[in-house]
Amino acid sequence: MKLKHEDFLKDRAYIGGNWIKADGGKSFEVFNPADNSIISAVPDMGEKETLNAIQAADNALKGWSSLSAKKRAVVLKKWSELLIYYADFLAVLMTLEQGKPIAEAKSEVLYGADFFEWYAEEGKRAYGDIIPSPIDGARILVTKQAIGVCGIITPWNFPSAMIARKVAPALAAGCTVVCKPAEDTPLSALALAVLAEEAGLPAGVFNVVTGKDPVPIARAICMSDIVKKVSFTGSNEVGKVLMRTCSKTLKKISLELGGNAPFIVFDDADVEQAVEGAIISKYRNAGQTCICANRIYVHESVYDSFVEKFVAKVKMLKVGSGLDSKSVIGPLINEAAIQKVQEHIEDAISKGAKLVLGGSVHKLGHTFFEPTVLTDMNAEMRIATEEVFAPVAPIFKFKNEQKVIDLANATHYGLAAYFYSRDMARVWHVVESLEYGIVAVNTGSLSTEVAPFGGIKESGIGREGSKYGLDEYMELKYVLMSGLKQ
Ligand code: SIN
Repeated sequence: MKLKHEDFLKDRAYIGGNWIKADGGKSFEVFNPADNSIISAVPDMGEKETLNAIQAADNALKGWSSLSAKKRAVVLKKWSELLIYYADFLAVLMTLEQGKPIAEAKSEVLYGADFFEWYAEEGKRAYGDIIPSPIDGARILVTKQAIGVCGIITPWNFPSAMIARKVAPALAAGCTVVCKPAEDTPLSALALAVLAEEAGLPAGVFNVVTGKDPVPIARAICMSDIVKKVSFTGSNEVGKVLMRTCSKTLKKISLELGGNAPFIVFDDADVEQAVEGAIISKYRNAGQTCICANRIYVHESVYDSFVEKFVAKVKMLKVGSGLDSKSVIGPLINEAAIQKVQEHIEDAISKGAKLVLGGSVHKLGHTFFEPTVLTDMNAEMRIATEEVFAPVAPIFKFKNEQKVIDLANATHYGLAAYFYSRDMARVWHVVESLEYGIVAVNTGSLSTEVAPFGGIKESGIGREGSKYGLDEYMELKYVLMSGLKQ
């Protein structure tokens, strides 16, 4: 059946293979951050509906986990193909609810499709081990099994790909899932469920529970005896609460939390390329990613040239509605984001930063913010330790390699770091010295389904993507077969 635009705009949640309303029929509105208009309304669910979804996932677990990985792969691949086929529709929906430019929205949908395609194959390679036994007449085997029902709680900045990045390995491993999408962006999650159904995913394997208040839903997931694993992407604050709540049942947990990415330009860097990379890293999704360049450190010998070239490029970034194909910077997600960025800028200026570009709400008003560049930054400013999550590029000057490494590491965060250098000895020294889960050298873009995405320190636990991402949804079983001596 060919789906139409309107088939993707759901006003019901997806539980046990059924499209259902909240108990009592309550719903909440989803807004377009570009103009605050109402896009639609979705069910306002809570604990009761979440427990139903968990039960549905549990009912589906035996059937799904006992299918061969090859059979599961057929459905996951189909899901991926459908995402690609309907990418234009899904991109419009995402831009409407999240605000990002349509080209970025489409590439997010395709990024999500990549996870389904890749894990469809990787699920077939969940190899175990045979370990030489120290006991006569015995054999030791290690097998991997699906962990069980998983709860996934996902953010508004990537309303589709962050679900795909968790659901694809979970389902490939043989798990079933209850998904709680961000309350700001539930529509892309429901659209994913439309395609899951279309791909032939059995009822109950993937469930989406929507709700305005995340607390009762998240608590029901984390407290449940049935749910064996929770994976969350979002703030550190919430991640810590979820971890505490999951400790009641000692659940396995993956956390992909905030970042404060350093972006270092050494004296031997190709400055033009570093400028390109900084623009990509900093302004993607209007600066609302966990891996955005948060602190740009530039060596004093190339500082002026970098700033000049960088500002010239930033001036060309068009701010506007994400639905306008010329826009490269959409609105921020809400008013609170505007307030936070203004506070960050005021704080930096009061401590000596120079405002070189932007700094205010854009003339389009509402939640559009001017791409901003601050220079003369120092370590006392809030931006040096806090996540910016806005189109603001703070540029620091540095003199020596060890000092900049120390500054880059002087944070509780440890998600992504970037640097530019052409000296191979320096490259390896810096790669090994940076306390980050991801280090990108001479590039500003690093996301791919084939590599392990995740942080150290307070940026999280676990990895998503690659063969390592599959292990997050599997348990090891050590099998000792004894009495085999003839
Ligand atoms: C994130 O901001 O957490 C995700 C970014 C990505 O996967 O590229």
